[in-house]
Amino acid sequence: MIELKNIEKYYANKGVKNYVLRHVTTTIKQGEFVSIMGPSGAGKSTLLNILGMLEEPTYGTYEFLGEDVTSLNERKRIELYRNHIGFVFQAYHLIDEMTVYENIEAPLLYKKIGGSERKSRIADLLDRFNIVAKKDLFPNQLSGGQQQLVGIARALAAQPSIILADEPTGNLQSA
Ligand SMILES: Nc1ncnc2c1ncn2[C@@H]1O[C@H](COP(=O)(O)OP(=O)(O)OP(=O)(O)O)[C@@H](O)[C@H]1O
Ligand SMILES: [Mg+2]
Repeated sequence: MIELKNIEKYYANKGVKNYVLRHVTTTIKQGEFVSIMGPSGAGKSTLLNILGMLEEPTYGTYEFLGEDVTSLNERKRIELYRNHIGFVFQAYHLIDEMTVYENIEAPLLYKKIGGSERKSRIADLLDRFNIVAKKDLFPNQLSGGQQQLVGIARALAAQPSIILADEPTGNLQSA
């Protein structure tokens, strides 16, 4: 479902190209579980952001479900993202002004999922992640691990085709 060909990404600084990714070519099939390992600064988040359509590569092609992502316009890319991708961010990226409940609900609203289906999915997720009691709190009222759980619940809410998770367990207890 994912095909990367010769992906490169660099940041230019005073005319010097600092390569973060070079010659990344890989295929990820449906049902596969893939992990990306490397030291800090190796480019893991950059690669995940490209896979999640949040950043564009400098060169190369990226096909997602047969669509050439690099040639899509922004509207189409956002639609593809909303319909298929669940992203768990390294730094949570919850919306500060929204409660736990509303954060989890957001992707369901984008996907125009009806009220009763929304309620039942959110109730399931709150239950599964043991955060029912936190549903009316705001992100800054949660511990780091709890924020991470909300970020994961939000990524799962829309039942995406793929979950892209950037160090999702860094703040969680081992169980
Ligand atoms: N906007 C930017 N401008 C310049 N350099 C950047 C930018 N974003 C990332 N980089 C550089 O790209 C490199 C890779 O960063 P990235 O966040 O992908 O690493 P990582 O492998 O996820 O590291 P970590 O394990 O610490 O999360 C780093 O050296 C970083 O400084
Ligand atoms: Mg990272």
